[in-house]
Amino acid sequence: MASRVIAIDGPAGSGKSTTAKAVARELDLAHIDSGAMYRAVTLVALDAGVPMLDDGDLVVETAKGKGVEFRDVGSSFRPIVAGVDVSKEIRSARVTEHVSQVSALPEVRIWVTAALQEAVAQHPRGAVADGRDIGTVVFPDAVLKIYLTAAVAERARRRALEQGMDGATPDIQQLSRDLQRRDEFDSNRAVSPLRPAADAIHIDTTDLAFEEQVAAVVERARDYFA
Ligand code: DC
Repeated sequence: MASRVIAIDGPAGSGKSTTAKAVARELDLAHIDSGAMYRAVTLVALDAGVPMLDDGDLVVETAKGKGVEFRDVGSSFRPIVAGVDVSKEIRSARVTEHVSQVSALPEVRIWVTAALQEAVAQHPRGAVADGRDIGTVVFPDAVLKIYLTAAVAERARRRALEQGMDGATPDIQQLSRDLQRRDEFDSNRAVSPLRPAADAIHIDTTDLAFEEQVAAVVERARDYFA
């Protein structure tokens, strides 16, 4: 039987997570942001002072030892470290800077993939999961696969808006360079690179309002989640 999952993949800043969250709310499914798990693993590795972030076994051992997990809080899964919700801490510039490197480690990917599959298997109705390899590797049998894209300038503009809300003064040129660097790294790594599944539906959100991009996914999903 196909997984009761809607997979939403795409590059950084394409609006995957915000879209996935809204789609989940509309269809009464759980939302699971897989990038949050890679970020939580990166956070504990940095905090523990793991000397080289290229030792996958050591990073996974550290994550297990520090109690990294996904917890179902009803409508969404939250990244937890030692019983504490780290949703805010994982968004720091320090974590963002190192997360591509950590998420490229095969041992880390195996561990996070298993955690995602277990989390969703326990959820009674199903989930909207977003990331880079959800439709290709984590849930290749998802009932619906979406690949979200947007022009890099638009993605940088959206990131700048988010940061501005936190009181930071965003540098759009820098944000744009960071996004491109991360896309390139995520797309060219050896294990599970960012890539659309062969059967994914592509949606370019550059000129779409947020409500329109949510509706575009929901209307394709209704048949599966009545
Ligand atoms: O979506 P995000 O920016 O929070 O993701 C953080 C990093 O995690 C991103 O650089 C790529 C990686 N990632 C991944 O490799 N596979 C996923 N399924 C999700 C995220």
